[in-house]
Amino acid sequence: MFTSAITGSIQHFFTIIGLVSVTFFMIPKLAVYAFVVIPVAGIPIFQFGRKIRRVRRGTQEAVADINSFLHETLTGNKIVKAFGMEAHEKKRFAKKSRKIFKLEMSETKVKVLSSPLMEFLGGLGIAFIIWYGGHQVIRGTYTFGTFMSFLLAVGLMYEPLKKLSKLNNAVQRGMAAADRIFDILERKSDIIEARAPVPIPAGTHRISFEDVSFQYDQTPVLQNINLEVAAGEIVALVGMSGGGKTSLVNLIPRFYDATRGRILIDGIDVRQGTVEGCSHIDP
Ligand SMILES: Nc1ncnc2c1ncn2[C@@H]1O[C@H](COP(=O)(O)OP(=O)(O)OP(=O)(O)O)[C@@H](O)[C@H]1O
Ligand SMILES: [Mg+2]
Repeated sequence: MFTSAITGSIQHFFTIIGLVSVTFFMIPKLAVYAFVVIPVAGIPIFQFGRKIRRVRRGTQEAVADINSFLHETLTGNKIVKAFGMEAHEKKRFAKKSRKIFKLEMSETKVKVLSSPLMEFLGGLGIAFIIWYGGHQVIRGTYTFGTFMSFLLAVGLMYEPLKKLSKLNNAVQRGMAAADRIFDILERKSDIIEARAPVPIPAGTHRISFEDVSFQYDQTPVLQNINLEVAAGEIVALVGMSGGGKTSLVNLIPRFYDATRGRILIDGIDVRQGTVEGCSHIDP
């Protein structure tokens, strides 16, 4: 968007400004009539741009979805086979790719439609200028030469105008991508750094859980856990799948915060420790 659209549009913009000034300088009255068309042409450009932006956002979401789906099923292909889920996964994939196909098609339709419409409106404008201006030449309001140079200036505007309309499509595509990127960049983390964070250097530490309870949303995963692990001690957590082993371990590096209770590393509450990596990592 920045490399092509912005640089290109500045150039086209100035070309159009220059040509419009020339036409107003030559035959002001005819120029006023002729440029009534431009705002009219602006409406579809604007509408198409909006539609493209909306569709593009959908496409990007669908592509992200299919990518994570592929990652999951391809890395887990043995599990898919072991459970005989090939047909099921194929169906899911087909559904997701059909969605992308539909979105791409509607974007293509808008793109393909926008150019003939612009040409049609441009043609109407030129036809009007020739009809009206020609009459004036016959009447002798101005010379044939003046009229021809006016017509040439209007004709030269055609290419930059068409390119500007295409550029708008490109800008809208870029804006849709930017929307998604900023959605993520502006998301606030639930994990908040303490006001005066204490660095916890790498090494062996004593870890204590004090009456820790934890839940992701509604259902409790851990309840009143009390655990002491001495520095260098190895502890094995054993239990059924979904029992909360990974969740318990995830609380130590603060991937999540405990709902109740405290977790201490060498007596320091993990919520007091630095979240961002220490710059001086001590091996
Ligand atoms: N990110 C998450 N968001 C919501 N719920 C989660 C999340 N991760 C795990 N859970 C739920 O929390 C519970 C505990 O899951 P956890 O992964 O801690 O179990 P586990 O003991 O590590 O299981 P496994 O032996 O399969 O690794 C499960 O009911 C699980 O569905
Ligand atoms: Mg686990």
